[in-house]
Amino acid sequence: MRTTVVFRPTTIQKKALALLKSGAKHVLLFGGSRSGKTTVLVMAIIFRALFYAESRHLICRLRAKDARSSVLQETLLPWLNNTVGIAGYNYLKHESMIRLENGSEIWIGGLGDKEQADKILGHEYNTIYFNEISQLTYAAVTTAYSRLAMRVKGCRNLFLYDCNPGSPLHWAYKIFVLKKTFLMGEPLEKAELYASMVLNPEDNKDNLPEDYISDILDGLPEKQKARFRDGLWVKAEGVIYEKFDESMIVKADELPERFDSYAGGQDFGLNITFVKIGWVGDVIYVLCDYGAFNMTTRSFNEEVSARGLYDTTDSLGLSIYCDPAGGERIQEITGGIKANNSVESGIDFINAKIERKQFFVCENCTGVLSEIWDYCRDEAGEIVKVNDHFMDALRYAVFSDVQHGVVLV
Ligand SMILES: Nc1ncnc2c1ncn2[C@@H]1O[C@H](COP(=O)(O)OP(=O)(O)OP(=O)(O)O)[C@@H](O)[C@H]1O
Ligand SMILES: [Mg+2]
Repeated sequence: MRTTVVFRPTTIQKKALALLKSGAKHVLLFGGSRSGKTTVLVMAIIFRALFYAESRHLICRLRAKDARSSVLQETLLPWLNNTVGIAGYNYLKHESMIRLENGSEIWIGGLGDKEQADKILGHEYNTIYFNEISQLTYAAVTTAYSRLAMRVKGCRNLFLYDCNPGSPLHWAYKIFVLKKTFLMGEPLEKAELYASMVLNPEDNKDNLPEDYISDILDGLPEKQKARFRDGLWVKAEGVIYEKFDESMIVKADELPERFDSYAGGQDFGLNITFVKIGWVGDVIYVLCDYGAFNMTTRSFNEEVSARGLYDTTDSLGLSIYCDPAGGERIQEITGGIKANNSVESGIDFINAKIERKQFFVCENCTGVLSEIWDYCRDEAGEIVKVNDHFMDALRYAVFSDVQHGVVLV
């Protein structure tokens, strides 16, 4: 016989549920691992789907397969079984969608590949829940914003987010914790619409194995412990540009007026990114960046051009070094040529510049800054291929320029 478990929110989960009703439109739960963030947000979606007949809800993260294994299989289906029972819903595997008896739907998907993103963003929703946003670009998340447009009487549409904290330069920290706009860094106009809360494993200890905190989390290296036990926004473990520090972030009006030369870097993909740098002697200034999600190369090129990001002073030319895997797309970029893609040498070169304090990033480069302290290697020393879109474009700009002999070092 099946035993049904009733959902009993922990004290902090009760507070999180209250926060969802507080009037905020965007709610982020961040904190250490296994603290009950995903469970409470999934339960909120189940409640909303049950309460508002014919409503539609989306749960998405970077990779669809992670969404299916960690959110769908581990959390959504078990709690649906506990709530409405196995006969109370229909799981349409092919669609990655669940339909309840009242006509409500819960969709699951990934924003990381085009076909999936097009599929899930082809509908309108009452709730969009971005799971593990430390892996998502701001452009990917904001592209989905227009899809929160379903109208169901009495239902206040919501964006929900969760994550283990990333670096304090990550976009989510800037918006939810510092309450600043992502691009301009100005105070949020309607700050009350953005709410966040910390949930840590200690808050969920009744639902965790007894030794989880003492044996596993307490034994982690310092930075991982800060993130995964204490829910703090710190640099990642194994950060590639470890020596980059905040003194290297410069205000736009403190940039040099003249540059000896400029270069651009261009990465392709669902997250398409551009980074422009300027050189003064041996010193590199990262001047601007721009990223978009699910945009054609042609439109992206037009957009970067319209924003004036290709402009240079003193009629200095601008070569844009493109991801060599870009093939024909390279021709669609104004001034686009193949980049040098020696990853390790490029990283070593940038690191040497950082160590010599010959590397500065303008505060407006939100894409580069969002990634620079999360760009890291795993325990096997391999580069983690998440959050690397601006990092690749930056490397193309810096290192190809050096390789082409434009800059003598
Ligand atoms: N109210 C609850 N009742 C019973 N079990 C719960 C409850 N809340 C959370 N849990 C259990 O605690 C564990 C961790 O929960 P959850 O996956 O929601 O945490 P998380 O903060 O999303 O973790 P991660 O940071 O790893 O994504 C899971 O096994 C989950 O089933
Ligand atoms: Mg989770």
